[in-house]
Formats: sequence, structure tokens, C-alpha cells
Amino acid sequence: MRDGSSRVSDRPRPLPPNDPRQYDDLADEWWRPDGAFAMLHWLARARAALVPPAARPDALLVDLGCGAGLLAPHLAGKGYRHVGVDLTRSALAQAARHGVTPVNGDATAVPLADGCADVVAAGELLEHVPDWRRAVAEACRLLRPGGLLVLDTLNDTALSRLIAVEIGERLPTVPRGIHDPRLFVDHRELVAECARHGVDLRVRGVRPGLPGTLAWLLRRIRSRGGRPQPTTVGRVPRIRPTWSTSVLYQGWGVRRG
Ligand SMILES: C[S@@+](CC[C@H](N)C(=O)[O-])C[C@H]1O[C@@H](n2cnc3c(N)ncnc32)[C@H](O)[C@@H]1O
Repeated sequence: MRDGSSRVSDRPRPLPPNDPRQYDDLADEWWRPDGAFAMLHWLARARAALVPPAARPDALLVDLGCGAGLLAPHLAGKGYRHVGVDLTRSALAQAARHGVTPVNGDATAVPLADGCADVVAAGELLEHVPDWRRAVAEACRLLRPGGLLVLDTLNDTALSRLIAVEIGERLPTVPRGIHDPRLFVDHRELVAECARHGVDLRVRGVRPGLPGTLAWLLRRIRSRGGRPQPTTVGRVPRIRPTWSTSVLYQGWGVRRG
């Protein structure tokens, strides 16, 4: 496990693609509405929309790779106890301040019991895990029969590498170097892997709405060097379903009994 308090100045620069220490360096960005992780906020809202209200008291939602707990406000009122598992202690400390019970651990070896979860969320996680199949096996193991898996990730396509890395990482929407495109996840392989572990996953492509994103980018550019103009909730770009899964996609499915 890493310690979020390790000395940033001692590290070689730049860090290799997908090096998790980047999340320590970016720790102040998580909850800035227009910060480097802004798009994660948009995606968290769309992911939470796939989660129904809890069907029983004490229902548990396990959020794998929870980061700073950006999902938490979007689950408010749905009735889950929200447990977050992440490698990055500096992010978990922030998640805890947003009501998430933090577990410092690896999504490929989660220190929680089989069948403990009513919902497992894995938002923008699998494309960061060298052994994503192991993380999927863990997600399915944690689900009780009838429990729901919800996730979103980047597809293993040339278009995804172009849009998410070559273009996205040059815009303020995605931190540069945060992805290693060799880890991107083919949606057919993901569906097959989930099926092997008892979850019939449905997938659909999603993308940020264009007008909202352009308006957001313009505001970002205009506010550079001047007073920051926090994005108001009503003007946050929406994540919309799209016909193609070839870049960003959501998946959801119920664990068979
Ligand atoms: C792109 S962020 C997504 C965070 C959060 N799910 C969200 O959507 O706001 C990826 C997160 O996954 C975490 N992570 C990466 N590899 C992991 C692993 N093997 N096990 C647990 N967490 C991991 C990182 O520390 C980071 O917080």
C-alpha cells in the first residue's frame, strides 16, 4: 500500500502512464467542480442513475476504486451504506469526509466477504487495473445473488485511444498521463468475463452531451488566469447514451442466484 503523505518532490517526473501516485499529486482536484476530475463528476451522476433505491434496510454498496467518493452525493437518499475500496489513501481520506466508509485495498483482492454487497460499483476503474479480469471476479464475488453490478470504462479501440488519450488528455477534461491505453477493456471480453462469474452484463455507449461540454470548455478557457468560475450544478454537462460503445461505455447486470 502506498501512503498519500509520501514526498511528491522526491519522485521522478513525469510519472509513468497510469501510475497511481498521480492521484496523490492531483489530490486537490477531486472535488473542484471545474478541476482535472470534472468529467468524473458527470460520470458519477450517470452511474448513480443506474442504481435503484435500496430494497432492504442496511443495504450495502461497495464502490471499487472509489477515489474521493464522487459517487456519494448522487446516492444520497437511496438508502445504502457506502463502502469505498481504493489503493490511494489521500483519495480515501476525502471519500470518508463525504460519508464513505474507507477500505484501503486493491480491487483485485478486496478484503470483504463473499456476497456482502447489494450493489457493486466500479466507475472508471477497470481501465486502470493491469489485471481487470481479477477485479471483475472480485466485483462478482462480492455481490449477493440478485445484487447489481454497475460500471463504466473505456473500450479497447483505436477510437478510444484517440479520443480519451490523444485528444482528451490535451483538454482540461482528463489529466495528462492518467491512462495507459494498453489497459483499456474490450466490451465483449468484459461481458464474457462477467457471464463467467454469474453476472449478465448489458452495455451501452455513453458520451458527454456536446453543447454542455463545449459550453463547459469555453467557461474553463475564459476563467483561466482570472477568477475561477465554479460550474453551477444546472450547467454541468450531462452524460448521454450513444449508439456506439467504441469509446466510453456503461455496464450493468444482476448476479444470478
Ligand atoms: C479514474 S479514478 C475513478 C475514481 C472514482 N471511481 C470516480 O469515478 O470518481 C480511478 C481510481 O481507481 C483507483 N485504483 C486504481 N487501481 C486500483 C486498484 N487496483 N484497486 C483499487 N483502486 C484502484 C485509483 O486510486 C483511483 O482512485
